[in-house]
Amino acid sequence: MDELLANSSEQLMTPCAILDVDAMRLNIHDTIERIRGLGVTMRPHLKTCKSLRVADEITGGRMDHPITVSTLAEVAYFFEHGGYTDILYAVGMDAHKVRSVVPFARKGLRLKIITDNAEAVLQVAEACKRHNVQFDVLIEVDCGDGRGGLSLSGEDLLAVAAAIRQTENLRLVGVLTHGGHSYRGEATAVALRRVACAERDAVVLAANRLRNAGHDISIVSAGSTPTLSQLDSAAGLTEIRAGVFVFQDLDQLRIGSCPSIDRIAVTVLTTVIGFTSNGNVLVDAGGLALSKDLSAAANKDWITGYGWVAHHPGLYVSRVSQEHGVLAVKTEGEANHVNLRKLLPVGSRVRIIPHHACFTAAAYDEYVAVRTTHGSIERWPRINGWDLRSVIDRGVSKL
Ligand SMILES: Cc1ncc(COP(=O)(O)O)c(C=O)c1O
Repeated sequence: MDELLANSSEQLMTPCAILDVDAMRLNIHDTIERIRGLGVTMRPHLKTCKSLRVADEITGGRMDHPITVSTLAEVAYFFEHGGYTDILYAVGMDAHKVRSVVPFARKGLRLKIITDNAEAVLQVAEACKRHNVQFDVLIEVDCGDGRGGLSLSGEDLLAVAAAIRQTENLRLVGVLTHGGHSYRGEATAVALRRVACAERDAVVLAANRLRNAGHDISIVSAGSTPTLSQLDSAAGLTEIRAGVFVFQDLDQLRIGSCPSIDRIAVTVLTTVIGFTSNGNVLVDAGGLALSKDLSAAANKDWITGYGWVAHHPGLYVSRVSQEHGVLAVKTEGEANHVNLRKLLPVGSRVRIIPHHACFTAAAYDEYVAVRTTHGSIERWPRINGWDLRSVIDRGVSKL
């Protein structure tokens, strides 16, 4: 991979996001097998990749494959340019956004939205009526993460369902939860399994409560990359959403849901532009190119800085400003400042392994997709931001 990148160095402006297609395919293969083994449907969360080309790798290019997104720009992109029709927008819908998806609804998209409160239900339903569109709705429940979602025990679950039933343009089809607290607890298999079970049990319980109250619940949706890695049974679920699995990152390695460092498929290519006054290496990837996410630093035994340098185990990004990054040695002895100048002379390039693939990839409009096995490099576009008007299909191109 690094040889291929070196051969194309003049066409590659740094910093840029490198996608190791071979590693990504292994991640996809393992995840599909795992979800198949659990006997449920996969509804990948495409907020990590935000790329049609990557989406097609996951879904096999099947336009009726269920997908999850986190912005309406992604809805526009995956529907208009990808042809995907079964799209779950997994961030609470609000009434102001309804108008922007009307053109897609007119063309046949039946968007699935989520909600966890009766006020939003009434407001969204009123906007849907005004614009003459219909949405399928999943009620979000909280399985312990404490972000969105209704408490399982309270009466609100039934009240929100009843509010949906009273509307003309919303149809309750399911329940959803996300065990986001899997990122915050102990990074052990036992602890992760506990969260994975809590995630499953919460949403299954919610589905059963709603069914007992006479609601037709056909979708029971749960998932995250860490909980999927330890879930032992998906009984009661109909689908699993995971997103980061496709690229993996330093934080998933810390948690144990990434099997090895070679599976981290997205890295940032950066150029050595000089040396700091105390002998560290200065590169052109700073906070904007890497993100300032420090999630993997939760492992107190690791020195992570803002990322590790691929193939240089002693080196990490010790400091970032907007466009500058500083590479330093973790411990004296592994490398020293004299040989750093020899190891990484000005103009040389290295790849940085990021903490959190979703945040780092968000800095880039495309991936430089490298297939080492094939000797090919392509540019794969992605969709960033929130503005639906910016959604254009630039298509895959050769480097
Ligand atoms: C609602 C929802 N579902 C699924 C996911 C995917 O989880 P992960 O990012 O761990 O793969 C996320 C991630 O934030 C999410 O917010």
